[in-house]
Amino acid sequence: MSERTYNVGGVVLPRPFSIQRLGHIGLTQADLEACTDFYVDGLGFRRTDPLIFPGMDKPLAWFTSHGTDHHTLAHIDAMLEADNPHYARGVSVNQISFQVGTLAEVADANKYFSQNNIQTWRYGRDFPGSNWAVYAYDPDGFRVELFYGMEQVGWDRQSKPPQFYLPPDYTPAIPEAAEISEIKQVRSEHPELPAGFRPQEDMPYDFEVGGVRLQRPFAINRVGPVHLFVDDVDLSEAFYTRHIGLVRTEELTWQGHRVCFLRHGTDHHSIGLFPIELRALLGMDKRTRLFSFGVELGSYQQLVDAVAWLKERGVDVVIDLPVELRPGIDYAAFIRDPSGHMTMLYCGMEQIGWDGNPRTLEQRRKVSANWPATLEPLSDTNMTLTRLGPMA
Ligand SMILES: [Fe+2]
Repeated sequence: MSERTYNVGGVVLPRPFSIQRLGHIGLTQADLEACTDFYVDGLGFRRTDPLIFPGMDKPLAWFTSHGTDHHTLAHIDAMLEADNPHYARGVSVNQISFQVGTLAEVADANKYFSQNNIQTWRYGRDFPGSNWAVYAYDPDGFRVELFYGMEQVGWDRQSKPPQFYLPPDYTPAIPEAAEISEIKQVRSEHPELPAGFRPQEDMPYDFEVGGVRLQRPFAINRVGPVHLFVDDVDLSEAFYTRHIGLVRTEELTWQGHRVCFLRHGTDHHSIGLFPIELRALLGMDKRTRLFSFGVELGSYQQLVDAVAWLKERGVDVVIDLPVELRPGIDYAAFIRDPSGHMTMLYCGMEQIGWDGNPRTLEQRRKVSANWPATLEPLSDTNMTLTRLGPMA
């Protein structure tokens, strides 16, 4: 590993970038439409754009979001991974995508990966979404994206028209024009350009959530963390800590196997690394190396109501997975999409302060099999709940 240091915004770091947040993940889906429907109808992710290649009459990917980011959950047709040997091994997570601070950090990360012999998949500007990105492969073949500049979809829910997309092989010229300069130029050259995609959202607005009529009795607050089954926990931990800049919060041994949890900010963790041997022990789907990805709801009440609503709709909701395998998260419910990917619904994550110490087991809330009607607050309860804009 290179011992050199980098000036990132005036701070000297061992890598030329700094992660700000877990922005989105992508899932490879054998049945793209059924799986997209599962998350759109069942959880309220909103379609923001299809990816349709020229000459094709159906999408090969659907981008969805719960907020103003163009996408927070992407679904990619398995056809696009037909030649990917990692997908054949169950790496059905297409991407785990962290936002960094600047475009220069993306460009410098691309150079850093090359200098450190880390295989990359793609570098340039993604579409739809218009985020600048570099993707690196982790030891199991999961793609870790570092991105900057995600398109924001505003009040009228119309995304940027495809005419604004750049060619797939375009790489950034540093410095690039500001987004608004680019939009003004394209608009001046093509005043006739239509607005972009806008989703149909036909379900009735039958539920009151916090004084607003919604289609479901809950709203998504954010996505993450991601729990992965990996071949070698030590090797993966070394990759994410050395080269991506995550920090280990906690490790534990479960049924003789080491599990570890890594964070990028104040959340207890953004990635959990589980040895692949645990997949069978936990009865998880053999098609995927994703254990689960988190979807945080807006409150404990919304989590309780979501479980009841999903069960009413006939969704199999699992609440008896071992709580010790999700340190920092107490009450959680799991649902499985048609490809076998588990979503972990939860509300609130333990926060790690300046000294980097998580709670001890004794300091954590005891989770009971019968979920209580209400919870007593902890010192960091509701600290992560920040919503920009309306719930729907
Ligand atoms: Fe991405």
